[in-house]
Amino acid sequence: MNSNKKTVRDIDVSGKKILLRCDFNVPLDKKTGEISDEIRIVASLPTINYLLDNGASVIACSHLGRPKGEWREDLSLRPVAKRLSERLGRPVKFAKDVIGDEALSLAAALKPGEIMLLENLRFHKEEEKNAPEFARKLASMADIFVSDSFGTVHRAHASTEGVAHFLPAVCGLLLARELAALGGALDNPKHPFVTVLGGSKVSDKLGVIRNLLTRADTILIGGGMAYTFLKAQGKEIGKSICEDEQIPYALEMLEAAANNGVSLLLPVDTVVAPEFSAEAEPALVSSDAIPDDQLGLDIGPMTAEIFAGAIKEAGTVVWNGPMGVFEFPAFAAGTIAVAKAMAESSAYTIVGGGDSAAAVNQFGFADKMSHVSTGGGASLEFLEGKELPGVACLLDR
Ligand code: 3PG
Repeated sequence: MNSNKKTVRDIDVSGKKILLRCDFNVPLDKKTGEISDEIRIVASLPTINYLLDNGASVIACSHLGRPKGEWREDLSLRPVAKRLSERLGRPVKFAKDVIGDEALSLAAALKPGEIMLLENLRFHKEEEKNAPEFARKLASMADIFVSDSFGTVHRAHASTEGVAHFLPAVCGLLLARELAALGGALDNPKHPFVTVLGGSKVSDKLGVIRNLLTRADTILIGGGMAYTFLKAQGKEIGKSICEDEQIPYALEMLEAAANNGVSLLLPVDTVVAPEFSAEAEPALVSSDAIPDDQLGLDIGPMTAEIFAGAIKEAGTVVWNGPMGVFEFPAFAAGTIAVAKAMAESSAYTIVGGGDSAAAVNQFGFADKMSHVSTGGGASLEFLEGKELPGVACLLDR
C-alpha cells in the first residue's frame, strides 16, 4: 500500500477551515461514564496545536462506541470536548449535532486559532454507510480534510473516506507517524525482524502471519491462538481455547514458515488452571501435554525466556496480542516478560494497538517503546498488507 501521503506540513493551512477526523473513541468507566483512558485525546494534541498555531480553525469530529445511528446520551462526545479543552488549554466549542443547524453555524463563525467538536458521527447511520450526501454536508463546513484517526482508516466511512471526494485530503501528524512506523517496519525493517503475535483467535491473525512470512525472520506465537497451532501439531491442549476450523491454516502456516526459512516458535511450557477465573489455581505444565481438565492461560517462564532472547537479538520487533490473560495477575507474567524484553531491547519496537497497547500502558512500559499504535483493527489490517480506504483516499506526496 502506498502510504507516502501529503501531511499538514505540506500544505498552507493559514486562514483555512479544517475538518479534522480524530479517533476520540475512548474507553468510558461503566459506572461513572468518565473517560478512563485519555491516550487517544493526548495523541491528537500535536496536530490540533499545529493547525491552530498556524492560523487554521479546526472542526474536529469523531465516533464514540457503536451507537448504530441512535442518539445515545451515554455516547455523547461532550465529555471529550471538556477533556480536550483541559489538555489543550484552550476553549473547545461543542456542537450538539453533527450536520445540523448548530454545527453549521458554529463552523461558519469559527475564527483562526479556534476549535470546535461535532457530536458523535455514528449518531447518523449515514456515517458507517459512507452516504455521499452526509459526507458532502460534513465537507461543506471546511476547506481541507485532515485525517488523523489511524484507528479508523481501515473503515470506508463518510468521515474517513467519503469527505475526501469533496475536499483536498491530507494526513495529520499522528496518522503520518503511524504510517511511517508501521510502513517502515514492513517495508524496510532492520533485521532480525521479530514479530510477536498473541490474543485469543488465530482467525484474527492469519492474514498478518501470511504477510509476515515473506518479511519476518522470526514469528513468536503466544496467547490463546497458540493452542490451535499446538493442536495442529498433534499435541494435547486440554480445555484450552481452540479454533478447530483453523487447524488446516495453522498447518499451512507452519509449513510455509519452514519453506521460507522463518523461525516460527510456539510455547514450550504453559501456565494452566482448571477454569477461566482470576482466582483459579495456576500450575505449570509442558505445552506438549496439557491435562484434559486444565486450560492454558499464559505462556510459561521457559517460553518467556526463549521469546525474550529472540527479542533481545532483534533489529525490529512488532508485537500484536497479549501472551495470556494479563487482566488476571496470576496469568500476566508472559505478557509482562515480552513487554519488558521489548522495553530493554535496542531494537525498533512497535506495539500494535488494542490489548497489547493496553498491556504496555498498564505495566508502565509504553514510554520505553519506539512506537505504540493508537489503532487496534487498523494496525492489524496494515500488518496484513491490506489497502486502507482512509489512507488510499489522501493526496499522494
Ligand atoms: C478502535 O477503537 O479500534 C477504533 O476507534 C475503531 O472503532 P470501530 O472498531 O468501532 O470502528
